[in-house]
Amino acid sequence: MSTEQTLREAATNRDFRIGAALAARALRSDPSYWKAARNEFNAVTPENALKMGPLRPSPHTYDFTDADAIVDFGRENDMYVRGHTLVWHNQKPEWFQAWDYTDDQLRKFLRDHIHTVVGRYRSSIDAWDVVNEAVADDGTLRETVWYDALGEEYLDLAFQWAREVNPEADLYYNDYGADAINEKSDAIYDLLERLLERDVPIDGVGLQFHALAGRSDPESVAENIRRFQDLGLDVQITEMDVANAVDDQPEDPLAEQADYYREIVEVCLETDCDTLVTWGVHDGSTWLRNFKDFSKRYTDDPLLFDDGYEPKPAYDAVKGALSGTDRS
Ligand code: G3I
Repeated sequence: MSTEQTLREAATNRDFRIGAALAARALRSDPSYWKAARNEFNAVTPENALKMGPLRPSPHTYDFTDADAIVDFGRENDMYVRGHTLVWHNQKPEWFQAWDYTDDQLRKFLRDHIHTVVGRYRSSIDAWDVVNEAVADDGTLRETVWYDALGEEYLDLAFQWAREVNPEADLYYNDYGADAINEKSDAIYDLLERLLERDVPIDGVGLQFHALAGRSDPESVAENIRRFQDLGLDVQITEMDVANAVDDQPEDPLAEQADYYREIVEVCLETDCDTLVTWGVHDGSTWLRNFKDFSKRYTDDPLLFDDGYEPKPAYDAVKGALSGTDRS
């Protein structure tokens, strides 16, 4: 038996949370997936099971089967559990399309949803992505069903409703494409500043980090993290994966990928950002394999373990950075 420490041990020794997004079906059916999730990570996010679509098969029913399975797995294995996500424009229930609601009905629906879901996991979910991806790529507020019915106030309400039911959980705003200083992260900064001025109970910001190898800018990422921290917000890396660009492959794509992961872990350690969740356990479970638009541009091997659950150079890079043994 190997005596070398696992990634989980390296992270725990450093008071760091290293996480993976999980799917209930794989946890049930694939012992290697289950084992890697338990042995190598000390944090977990349900990848899809807590989204409104999967949770709400019909207007008045909930299906918590998969969400419970993942949250229970996390608790039983002493992991930090992130809840993802309460309000999003995507993965809404299918029946929503045909629902001819009034603004008030939508407001009541969202309030009930947040109260029920946050309430159910009051003692088992540590942090919530309350609102996901509310800002469009050009920095304006995204026109979603929530925005169209309730205006910017939908963010205030969502955070308030979550806090009402669980004063203990940390509440995050989560988004992609805002990892470094850019137009979008500027807009998110302004939005969160406005929320804080209005005393909205928000504790942090999640930077997703769906990234491309070879294009990291660690200094800008560190500056971005620090400016959110200066607002009084915690910063977590919530959905990290690092693909290579299909049309611009470096000589050693896995090494390039490893470098990216290493640099970002080092930024985390420098800036006291203590949580980094990868968006899947192994390459076989990456979302990129199901999204054709992305697969034209991104390679589909963005995670720390390969298809056979063998640790990749990126795994060694993350572990090395966390244990202080990586000198490259
Ligand atoms: O589970 C159902 C299955 O029952 C059904 O037969 C099948 C038919 O389409 O769909 C399956 O659901 C899919 C689900 O992934 C599970 O595989 C959905 O169609 C598919 O849309 C869904 O994709 C998820 C995507 O969010 C939705 O936009 C990805 O798994 C998930 O990784 C991805 O995660 C998002 C974050 O939540 C937010 N940030 C970006 C990130 C990547 O897109």
